[in-house]
Amino acid sequence: MSRKYRVLVVGMGKRGTHHALAFQANNRFEVAAVCDIDPARLDAAASRFGGIRGRDALQVASAVKPDVFCFCTLPHLRSEMVRIGIQSGARLMAFEKPVALTSREGMKIRNMLLAAGVKAVVSHQHRYGEHYRKVKEIIASGALGRVHTVYATASGWMTHMLSHLIDYMRWYNGNTEAQWVMAQAAGDGKLSDLHPSPDYIGGFIQFANGVRGIVECGAGAPDVPEVDYWWRKCRVGAQGTDGFAEVLTGGGWRVVSKSGATSGGGCMNYDLDMPPYIQDMADWLDDDRKVHPCNFENAYAGFAIMMALCRSAVGGGQVALPLTDAADEIQMLKAYLVGRKVLASTPVNAKEYGLLDAVSKRVA
Ligand SMILES: NC(=O)c1ccc[n+]([C@@H]2O[C@H](COP(=O)([O-])OP(=O)(O)OC[C@H]3O[C@@H](n4cnc5c(N)ncnc54)[C@H](O)[C@@H]3O)[C@@H](O)[C@H]2O)c1
Repeated sequence: MSRKYRVLVVGMGKRGTHHALAFQANNRFEVAAVCDIDPARLDAAASRFGGIRGRDALQVASAVKPDVFCFCTLPHLRSEMVRIGIQSGARLMAFEKPVALTSREGMKIRNMLLAAGVKAVVSHQHRYGEHYRKVKEIIASGALGRVHTVYATASGWMTHMLSHLIDYMRWYNGNTEAQWVMAQAAGDGKLSDLHPSPDYIGGFIQFANGVRGIVECGAGAPDVPEVDYWWRKCRVGAQGTDGFAEVLTGGGWRVVSKSGATSGGGCMNYDLDMPPYIQDMADWLDDDRKVHPCNFENAYAGFAIMMALCRSAVGGGQVALPLTDAADEIQMLKAYLVGRKVLASTPVNAKEYGLLDAVSKRVA
């Protein structure tokens, strides 16, 4: 067997722990070091995974010189970690969605990775779910005829969920590039969240193959009544001349086509989705031709669509892709959304977006 790839995981919160567990369980990887600025989290991680430990990512990375630099910090910390990973000589960078919070940061990361020639993957791992893969299989089989529309909705807010939605819409549309987008947004409550986002954003995407993308994310998105767990109220699908197929993140899949209606199970599950996501990293490290499905270039294309949607929401009209100039879309949204209140589509959305007080005041 080939040698084990040595991994440093930085940011031992929820997702860092998921990653470390999945690396540890795969015999192609060894968790060589863990890092967190929080001493309690670092202690807990070090006793669980062993290896070198430290609170300073640069120091740990310089000491360990990992093959894989994995970081799972919150979205405001990205280019700094990529810089440290490149400096440490890592061959592959594994990090969390969203790629960044602004196009300025996203472009910087892309330029650094391209200049260093380092492989990178971004964790859009829902696609490994059996229900997500089933819908992809149905679309690829031609059962829907000519696909003309891909669509997605989520109740959660943009920097948590939109990155996922766009990634899977692009996948269902053969990763075709987008030419332009047009969008609207409302509500500034979640702009002060650690995942800063408009409370609601929705828009259209024109893909180069003529397929229309329709996406909605946040307080105004429609309910997915088939799913109980709020964060998994996501619907992603494709419509064609002969039918449609869709996946619900927390509730299986369905297809209606010329051969009738069929459905099946499946639910987003980190324990099931992480192992193949991690294995694909080993395969890509072993063989340049086995490019990881969650490779950075794919993630960046989706990220650029998200940033373009923000620009359209703020500036109006259509925004052409690819983006050529850098901007700070979160600051743009902060300035634009003041006083533009959001209306929730369900009582639970009203609660999650802190709108219940406003509703009860109106009723009283
Ligand atoms: N792919 C998915 O399904 C999925 C699900 C949840 C969250 N996420 C993403 O994962 C990322 C992390 O989310 P989380 O829920 O794990 O967050 P978290 O708050 O649980 O963990 C982040 C950790 O990073 C540590 N940290 C912060 N700054 C650091 C630094 N400079 N050096 C080292 N450690 C540092 C914090 O102390 C914390 O332990 C976010 O970008 C989030 O959007 C992805």
